Amino acid sequence: GAAELGPYRHYMQKEIFEQPVAIANTLDAVTGISPELFGDGAWRIFKEVDSVLILACGTSYYSGSTAKYWLESIAKIPTSVEIASEYRYRDSVPNPRTLVVTISQSGETADTIAALKHARAQGMNHTLTICNVATSAMVRECALAYITRAGAEIGVASTKAFTTQLVGLFLLTLALAQTRGHLSEADEARHLKDLRHLPVAVQAVLALEPQVIAWSEEFARKENALFLGRGLHYPIALEGALKLKEISYIHAEAYPAGELKHGPLALVTAEMPVVTVAPNDALLEKLKSNMQEVRARGGQLYVFADGDTAIESETGLHVIRMPEHYGVLSPILHVVPLQLLAYHTACARGTDVDKPRNLAKSVTVE
Ligand code: G6P
Repeated sequence: GAAELGPYRHYMQKEIFEQPVAIANTLDAVTGISPELFGDGAWRIFKEVDSVLILACGTSYYSGSTAKYWLESIAKIPTSVEIASEYRYRDSVPNPRTLVVTISQSGETADTIAALKHARAQGMNHTLTICNVATSAMVRECALAYITRAGAEIGVASTKAFTTQLVGLFLLTLALAQTRGHLSEADEARHLKDLRHLPVAVQAVLALEPQVIAWSEEFARKENALFLGRGLHYPIALEGALKLKEISYIHAEAYPAGELKHGPLALVTAEMPVVTVAPNDALLEKLKSNMQEVRARGGQLYVFADGDTAIESETGLHVIRMPEHYGVLSPILHVVPLQLLAYHTACARGTDVDKPRNLAKSVTVE
């Protein structure tokens, strides 16, 4: 009821602002990195596996897509990510040494459970879930689990479940890296310090809300939007586009910025806002030249840059400056203003933010 909402207009807004606490709670029991964070016997399973297969739907699929970058670069373990409804019905090559990881807020998504059972039926018995509901079918079905502590998520568009899934997936990356001899004690200490600082860092990003509201008034008048990202921020661009279409009903799609010239550049006009996730990482210079391609065609760029980058607002280029670059955990910060942008754009359009048309919070039938 209204009392629970406190100062917020919708559950989605409340849940966006709960992220610092949700992340802190998800990390609460973590005193160090070890496979046992995922359950008894995890060490034996982690020793055995030679690859990771992530299965999920919707927003959970995008947290998995982000984790692929971490798993390959930090744990150096080959990783594939599949949409559960596709995997369950295709012929694939089973590998009994694969760690099958399902990701689910509800733990009840029919396609994700069916994909898990499909993997098991093919002899893949090393199963782990990152899930927000400890009593769910998914947790019962998997050998290992990490329970995110986002708390109840009511808004149909997932927010705090996503960022806490990323935290769980980063812990999984570190635990696998450790088992495989790729995590020194110094690395472990550094990553843990960065994880523990996340609630404060997310809080600083939430303070950008007034700037995002100013942009949302422009977005509310558009019918299309393009989201660009590169590397581990490409799935963040996908998640930003999903949020916008789910709740504001604006057609949005995301591209890895390097693919612009292979199609979407043809869509760019002054009427097409182009949201760019632009962290100060190794790909920034490449991204800047992609941005130039958009500007040269009269497109309007809306850039989320890090505080330590020299991108300045000018004609056709709007910049919101994030806190300084947060290294490999940067996706957890960069998704937050995209959630806020979708939320405020939807509010400006007057849609039913917490219950968007045609969508359900949990899809328990096929
Ligand atoms: C529905 C929800 C999404 C969610 C997806 C997967 O589509 O509207 O917010 O990401 O299901 O749900 P799960 O509970 O498995 O994460």
